[in-house]
Amino acid sequence: GKILLLNGPNLNRLGKREPDIYGKETLDDVERDVRKVLQRYSHELDAKQSNHEGELIDWLHDANDHYIGVIFNPGAYTHTSIALRDAIQSINVPVIEVHISNVHSRESFRHTSLLAPVCQGQIVGLGTKGYQMAAIFLGERNGEEKN
Ligand code: DQA
Repeated sequence: GKILLLNGPNLNRLGKREPDIYGKETLDDVERDVRKVLQRYSHELDAKQSNHEGELIDWLHDANDHYIGVIFNPGAYTHTSIALRDAIQSINVPVIEVHISNVHSRESFRHTSLLAPVCQGQIVGLGTKGYQMAAIFLGERNGEEKN
C-alpha cells in the first residue's frame, strides 16, 4: 500500500530553521529515511509539504481514496486549526501526528493539540526519528515485514 507523509507550515525550512530545536536534518533527509523504513514492509511513500492550511485539508481529503495511512506533522496548525481537525475526522485513514520537538517542554501555547483527539496516536519529542517510528507503526499494522 501507499503511505502519505504530510508536513505543514515552516517544515520546508527543516535543517535551517532553529537547528537547536529541530535538528540539522532536512525534509529531504526525513523523506529518504521514512521511505527506507517503509521499503521493509513493501510500502510506497508519497511526501508533500505545504505552508497553506487549505492545501493540507485538500490533501487529507484526497488521502481517503489513495493511502492506507498518513504521517502528519501539522506544525503550528496543531495548536490552532479546527478546520484540520474536521478534515482528519472526515476521513477513514489512520493519521499519526508527529512533532519533532517536545512541545510539552516549550511554550504553553504548544501544549494543546486540537488534532490529537482525532488522530490514531501522537509521537512527540523524538526528533526526526519520530517520523520513522510512525512509519514502523503503519508498516506493522498493515503488512508483513520482508526478510
Ligand atoms: C512542531 C511543533 C510546533 O509547535 C511548531 O509550530 C512547529 C513544529 C514540531 O515538529 O516540533 O512548526 O510541529
